[in-house]
Amino acid sequence: MSTKDKVLQYLQDIDSEYVSGQKLAENLGMSRTAVWKAIADLRKSGAVVEAVTNRGYHLIRTTPNLSQKSLSEALPNLDIFYFDEIDSTNNYCKQLSSKGLKKNALVVSSKQLQGRGRLGRVFESPNGGVYFSLLLNTEKSTEDNLLVTSAASVAISRAIKKICNKYTQIKWVNDIYYNDKKVCGILTEGIIDMEVGNIGAMVVGIGINFSTKLQDFDASLHSIVTSLYDGDDDVPSNVSQTLLVSTAVKELFNIWDNISADKSFLDEYRDRSNVIGKYVNLYSNNEMKSGYVVDIDDSAHLLVKMDDSGKTIVLNTGEVTLRLNKDKNN
Ligand code: BTN
Repeated sequence: MSTKDKVLQYLQDIDSEYVSGQKLAENLGMSRTAVWKAIADLRKSGAVVEAVTNRGYHLIRTTPNLSQKSLSEALPNLDIFYFDEIDSTNNYCKQLSSKGLKKNALVVSSKQLQGRGRLGRVFESPNGGVYFSLLLNTEKSTEDNLLVTSAASVAISRAIKKICNKYTQIKWVNDIYYNDKKVCGILTEGIIDMEVGNIGAMVVGIGINFSTKLQDFDASLHSIVTSLYDGDDDVPSNVSQTLLVSTAVKELFNIWDNISADKSFLDEYRDRSNVIGKYVNLYSNNEMKSGYVVDIDDSAHLLVKMDDSGKTIVLNTGEVTLRLNKDKNN
């Protein structure tokens, strides 16, 4: 356990009591300077720790930050790995799988140094966001496995509504939008079981801009992305990243466990779509084509009536980038 986590645990254990820096240092067997640094680190990651003269430190709330303890308590049946920062939670899941972990697991981080997006892009992952990957072992059919990203989109949208009371839309196939800007991206990667030659596990990687400040993103993204909250001070006291992550994971399992028999979540996927009934531009292999989105079918394929041929084509998740055609939709 890191020094920061030890101090956090101590402050949580004494409930709402105050403790002096001296007593903290003595009881945890560390120097006053280490205590002071740990408190500074805790505040940096979002905890509110009050310091009162002659009384000492007092933990007001840990939200919106995450910890191994809060996540394990919220999801007791899952193997959980929490990091303050990591290269990529998807990479870590793949390492767990290649080391032979056959159980489902959740890897969560408050910051990623090499976050990965679709089509080999970088996914900017500064503090304030929450980045998590679910290692999902699967024996389901290929058809059902291919629905996991759509299931995750619906699960995250439900969790955001439940916990943050905010309505989000889904931009086919894997982006969540809030107020017409991207607030979450999903990258799903399959892991082949070499013995049977099928997908044996999947890594569903999710990045949510929770309370990230706009200035912490590259300027090129400022007109495209948003966060659920405008900085930590904007987060209500009954909302936390732990609650949001654990609710999203539970919602995903609710859909996933029955997905072979029950695909009704796709109705919600369609209801939340911000592309059905819209004109779009499709980019693939440096080529741009335009069309009108007619529907999304029960395999989460996009049905697009093309402007050039007048024919309706069926797009799977593939290598397509989709943008709303602003000229035609206005
Ligand atoms: C996209 O929008 O292109 C997909 C972004 C997926 C980002 C998440 S954050 C957690 C997980 N780890 C990664 O490196 N990527 C995914």
